[in-house]
Amino acid sequence: MKKVVSLAGARPQFVKEAVVGAEARRRGAWEHVLVHSGQHYDANMSDIFFAELEMKQPDHFLGVGSGSHGAQTADVLAKFEVLLMREKPDTVLVYGDTNTTLAGALAAAKLKIPVAHVEAGIRQHPKDMPEEINRVLTDRISARLFCCSDLAARNLAGEGMTAGVTVPGDVMYDLYLKMAPRLAPDEARARLALDEGGYIVATIHRDFNTDDPKALAGILDGLNRAHRESGLEVLLPLHPRTRKRVAEFGLEDSLRHLRAVEPIGYLDLMSLTLHCAAAVTDSGGYQKEAYYAGKRAVVLMPDTGWRELTDAGWNLLCPPDAERIASAVAEALAPAPRPENIYGAGDAGERIVESLAE
Ligand code: UD1
Repeated sequence: MKKVVSLAGARPQFVKEAVVGAEARRRGAWEHVLVHSGQHYDANMSDIFFAELEMKQPDHFLGVGSGSHGAQTADVLAKFEVLLMREKPDTVLVYGDTNTTLAGALAAAKLKIPVAHVEAGIRQHPKDMPEEINRVLTDRISARLFCCSDLAARNLAGEGMTAGVTVPGDVMYDLYLKMAPRLAPDEARARLALDEGGYIVATIHRDFNTDDPKALAGILDGLNRAHRESGLEVLLPLHPRTRKRVAEFGLEDSLRHLRAVEPIGYLDLMSLTLHCAAAVTDSGGYQKEAYYAGKRAVVLMPDTGWRELTDAGWNLLCPPDAERIASAVAEALAPAPRPENIYGAGDAGERIVESLAE
């Protein structure tokens, strides 16, 4: 039987592994060995996903933790290489654009183990953002490139990559469809005393938004302004990185009128999204998940890999500027035609596993 080692380490990767790993096991497609790098380690950044999404516990834990980009990537690279030499898999599966992904792909490629990249072909500016560097390099050394959309496949073709490229769709859409019956928006709202349609869900964690005091202050001002102008509450689950920066830059006062809470798991986040008025985010995954839940998002980025949604006018790109954020939120509260059929049919996991099992 074939052996596949699957590597995950950060929140968006757990969500993707939940789909692909479950499908591989359901089919008995191969021996599925799950490795957790340890990039995310807080209970509400890691364990909660394994519990809620009924994931297999990792077979191996690398325990790399936080660090500078070089240190974190190097630590995964060194530890994962040792593990691969022992496990000798036929394929290594990596997800998305994190430091864990790049390190895993690099370790495998140097050992001549074929790499399969789920969520290949995403491209965005600025080209020096860590996630863009990670995904471009990972695509380059992957043998199998699984794309969420035709645009992603075209991006790869534009860079001369066509071999091994397929477009199964987005596994996060599969997950949304699978989890939809378990979402409980009324209960999630009641716990936070929020009214249906009476709040915005906001998430911020990108380095260019959190590590620059002017950008972070502009975003928090923008959320406060949107709150005042729209009368909506702003629910802000705070990534640990953002919480640290808010303290470091002395911006705690800007949280007084926002509903800042600890990071929340998949089920609560998606339940709350179902009843929100709109989303504001710099998360790659969440701007798409909001769309799956039928909500428009103001995307706090200079550019996005999910251009299908911004080109269609559903999601709105916005700089970290208070006035622009407030007006983008006002725009996102208006109805818009929802683009359809861009990220597959909800069977991306099946198609990836079928294709890799061959
Ligand atoms: C990483 C990914 C990003 C993804 C995001 C999802 C990279 C380069 N970026 O960004 O693509 O969208 O995960 O959340 O890989 N921290 C904790 N506890 C944790 C995890 C992190 O306190 O469990 C704090 C640490 O101070 C750490 C900081 O958050 O230094 C940043 O974490 P890190 O994993 O380096 O990057 P993310 O911003 O989470």
